[in-house]
Amino acid sequence: MATDSSAPSTADSLSAADRGLTLHHITVRFGGLLALDDVSLRVPPGRTVGIIGPNGAGKTTLFNVICGFVVPQSGTIALDGRPFRPRPHQLTGRGIARTLQGVGQFNGMTVLENVLVGARSRKAEEEAWAALERCGVAEHAAALPASLPYAKRKRVELARALAAKPRILMLDEPAGGLDADEIRWLATLIQEADCTVLLVEHHMDLVMSVCDEILVLDFGKPIALGPPAEIRTDPKVAEAYLGAAA
Ligand SMILES: Nc1ncnc2c1ncn2[C@@H]1O[C@H](COP(=O)(O)OP(=O)(O)O)[C@@H](O)[C@H]1O
Ligand SMILES: [Mg+2]
Repeated sequence: MATDSSAPSTADSLSAADRGLTLHHITVRFGGLLALDDVSLRVPPGRTVGIIGPNGAGKTTLFNVICGFVVPQSGTIALDGRPFRPRPHQLTGRGIARTLQGVGQFNGMTVLENVLVGARSRKAEEEAWAALERCGVAEHAAALPASLPYAKRKRVELARALAAKPRILMLDEPAGGLDADEIRWLATLIQEADCTVLLVEHHMDLVMSVCDEILVLDFGKPIALGPPAEIRTDPKVAEAYLGAAA
């Protein structure tokens, strides 16, 4: 029997609401500490979604749940409408790449070797070089990461994630320790990324300028979710940050 090439593929027949990453009622406890308290979030393809909140709010824990480093006590994750049980070693294959808070390179390896760890196709070397170029660190390919200034190491970390050509790029405090010029460069990179971006960040100007939507966590609880203009003027958000500063 001839196959009907006009029939929708499984991906095409997904309803728009199912596409992308969805977190349903995620709860994580570390002993007596409620690190995430019933967090739900929809991340449609191509969006840039920010996750903000005071230190200890649960932002990195949420990333760890999506990456499979932390298994929630309750709640589910779906990727394109199907149940998704993340396993750290399968993430690249599922199109998810993450940078770590701070810098996380292997020090016995060169910059190029570090970025090759991220690449996944048979054209790995080509992709690694393209990512190094895009991040402006190709000239340092043969250097050891530890020999580079911090901002350059952050760029290598980004290149490693981009080399995987992810559908979902997860950035945990990518602006930490960067100066204004570097942050402007980072904003452009995020805006031009042709993938979904999940951004945990304290630098409010960056978050407000690149995100389509922002989730605010406070002591693990989602206290606000909306576009930057709404979040900026939400009294609950201001209160959470003021409370944390006190
Ligand atoms: N593996 C862990 N074991 C115990 N407590 C943890 C662990 N990871 C995070 N926590 C705690 O959970 C809370 C949330 O941490 P985290 O997600 O790192 O916050 P954020 O990234 O928003 O600063 C903090 O109180 C932190 O100390
Ligand atoms: Mg964190």
